[in-house]
Amino acid sequence: MDKENELLSLYWQDNHLYILDQRLLPQRSEYIKCVTYCDVVSSICNMSVRGAPAIGISAAYGMAAAALEACEKGFCPEQVRSYLKKASNELFQARPTAVNLAWALQRTDQWLTSNSKATPQQIFDGLLEEADKIFAEDLENNRQIGANGAALVPHNASVLTHCNAGALATGGYGTALGVIRAAVSQGKNIHVYVDETRPLLQGARLTAFELNHDQIPATLITDSCAGYLMSKGKVDLIVTGADRIADNGDTANKIGTYSLAVLAHHHNIPIYVAAPLSTIDLSISSGDDIVIEERCGTEISHINNHCLAPPEVNVYNPAFDVTPAELITAIITECGIVHNPTPDKIKKLFTKEKS
Ligand code: MRU
Repeated sequence: MDKENELLSLYWQDNHLYILDQRLLPQRSEYIKCVTYCDVVSSICNMSVRGAPAIGISAAYGMAAAALEACEKGFCPEQVRSYLKKASNELFQARPTAVNLAWALQRTDQWLTSNSKATPQQIFDGLLEEADKIFAEDLENNRQIGANGAALVPHNASVLTHCNAGALATGGYGTALGVIRAAVSQGKNIHVYVDETRPLLQGARLTAFELNHDQIPATLITDSCAGYLMSKGKVDLIVTGADRIADNGDTANKIGTYSLAVLAHHHNIPIYVAAPLSTIDLSISSGDDIVIEERCGTEISHINNHCLAPPEVNVYNPAFDVTPAELITAIITECGIVHNPTPDKIKKLFTKEKS
């Protein structure tokens, strides 16, 4: 694997989807070969692939994998469609919070509806082409998000980020890290504070890895250090990704984002959410309607299979929280920036060209 490709979260080759097993990073870089759509479902559930856009892209390829399986079983078109329905339902349920998963499956469903007379082979070819498009569009969108957001990052800024919203979480380049990458590529001198992001350490393992890879100066901190740094005037702005943004701008992102937003408000520091339109869910009017995934307690009580807490202790492990729109300075998308988000401003984004 050459240096350029080290940050490739997934790729399709010779009729199989290869998913970078992010659970092993940064120590090992190994790809999981997904032969069936069930392999894709498992890789999403166990978080080999994670990050809202990367989950959506994987699900789209999962549908192509299901179509190929159905062709190989010699199914007639009706049987292919019912197999795809089953695959779509299982992929949909793999993780509940990131809307990109449902969004990508909706794109594949739309293709199936518009091509109701397709043969099994045409269905496979069509779904694979749709997945390739979703992948390519995501990369393009992230570069545009980066270009848009870089204007908000001053020269010599100290930026704090949470979780991993980088190339690994997307089709490439990243959303929050895309903004940082774009600012750096404009010649700005940027330093990044990286929240380790308990319990799965996406910040320590993945964001620190990406920033080191790109030689962007970064300092790893514990999640609980962020407030102290803000109180000392060491953070100029915060930029994070998002898993689902409601119609009114309320934003679900990795657990701990809400705490950062409250701290940022107290210290008068701007906090930006960088996300593509595929992360905006216009069907829900507020964050109250966002389903928050609760994950296994051992993610908190154990480290590397070693139990650190008393075995009988209760553990509560929500993977995400919701930051209310009024605490978000702006949402950065491929179609522009929305300052002080409101339902009207967010809806307008969908009528704009990318810029
Ligand atoms: O549980 P994860 O690692 O999938 O959570 C990821 C995040 O919260 C990211 O910030 C979000 O998906 C945006 S990725 C561009």
